[in-house]
Amino acid sequence: MEKKRVATLTLDDGRVIELPILEGTLGPDVLDIRNLAKAGLFTFDPGFMATASCESQITFIDGEAGLLYYRGYPIEQLAEHSDFLEVCYLLLNGELPGAAQKVEFNSKVRQHTMVHDQLARFFSGFRRDAHPMAVMVGVVGALSAFYHDSLDINNPEHREISALRLISKVPTIAAMAYKYNIGEPFMYPKNKFGYVENFMHMMFATPCEDYVPNPVLVRALERIFILHADHEQNASTSTVRLAGSSGASPFACVSSGIAALWGPAHGGANEAVLKMLEEIGDISRVEEFMKGVKEKRYRLMGFGHRVYRNMDPRANVMRETCYEVLNELNLGDDPMFRMALELEQIALRDPYFIERRLYPNVDFYSGIVLRALGVPTNMFTVIFALARTIGWISQWNEMISDADRRIGRPRQLYQGAVQRDFVPVTER
Ligand code: CMC
Repeated sequence: MEKKRVATLTLDDGRVIELPILEGTLGPDVLDIRNLAKAGLFTFDPGFMATASCESQITFIDGEAGLLYYRGYPIEQLAEHSDFLEVCYLLLNGELPGAAQKVEFNSKVRQHTMVHDQLARFFSGFRRDAHPMAVMVGVVGALSAFYHDSLDINNPEHREISALRLISKVPTIAAMAYKYNIGEPFMYPKNKFGYVENFMHMMFATPCEDYVPNPVLVRALERIFILHADHEQNASTSTVRLAGSSGASPFACVSSGIAALWGPAHGGANEAVLKMLEEIGDISRVEEFMKGVKEKRYRLMGFGHRVYRNMDPRANVMRETCYEVLNELNLGDDPMFRMALELEQIALRDPYFIERRLYPNVDFYSGIVLRALGVPTNMFTVIFALARTIGWISQWNEMISDADRRIGRPRQLYQGAVQRDFVPVTER
């Protein structure tokens, strides 16, 4: 029998605490610190720089080597050979679907794309100029008020139905958020289209004009969906898990994930990249802007990552897709795109970025691709949320399936006032 590996921690009062060393199938060893709590001690790790919050079999990242696997499959292979719904099946079920399973899964997703008609009324409660992410947080959360028939989270069939509903309906809600924002009528989903084409139809068709899919652009958006589908325990996924650990509805949990994704340090980065490019305004000002970045007056959005200290493997795929789309649309000379590529080249050569191992991340290029596809900037993060919904619900499902699940409850290092007695207002 293999010997169990243990680290021992000796405290300054002489107590010795054993910390088992856990080995994953890939990646670094993890210290099991649960014995610390028995000794009345906690660890301090703001930002979770050294904390594994759960055990998972879904996604693996090696940030040093620049690797990303979904269920063991390298992201590059999935982006090249797979489609988004196949990736959804893989993330949710652990294996790629067989031919019959694939047909059945696609058909189930197709059957759930319409939303309850009453849900459409939620939109009119928002101002037309509301940010579509604000609308998404509200309307996706509201799904929990509609689908009571499948909200027993301890029932695996209910969990599957909720997952299917989310994968199917979030694109419909995302497109509705866009249509509401620009004052066009909502477009119903059309079953003749595939998942990605259907989303483009709901975004870009009008009752007067059909949407005619361009295969290069559909493929580009499909890649964006695949590349954003999951990314292990990032801020939004951890939020979904934490919300879910209390037994909350999956729709409410995904809504909390959307809220966490919104910030510019996470899913808001693709939007922030475009805003940054607009602010720079002209290729002649790129050098001056980079000077400001190095003086820490601002950040180069779309660069750097908490986990990747190498090229983000998703960024490599997205970069290729970026060129395909720009060629297809004859946008190679577009000033905004030229400026983005100039920034990328300067940053890749600059010692400031090299020393800190800051490389372009997926959102540097996805923002450029989305802009070329005609998606407005305020919808970029919505598209990220749409794609990440499968990751959130797969991670949530994995957590709920675990019989040892406990509510997530971190501790703190208290630095506030010590006990003191109340003083009446007249004596303060
Ligand atoms: N531009 C300029 N300097 C940077 C940048 C940047 N984008 N990112 C990090 N740095 C510097 C930072 O100032 C620090 O320098 P120093 O050591 O001199 O103090 C060093 O690099 C380490 O940075 P950090 O802030 O400690 O790194 P972090 O792991 O806490 O932050 C990050 C990661 C993604 C929040 C950060 O790199 C960032 O703000 N990037 C821009 C926003 C962005 O593109 N986010 C999208 C991430 S990919 C999508 C996703 O998965 O959600």
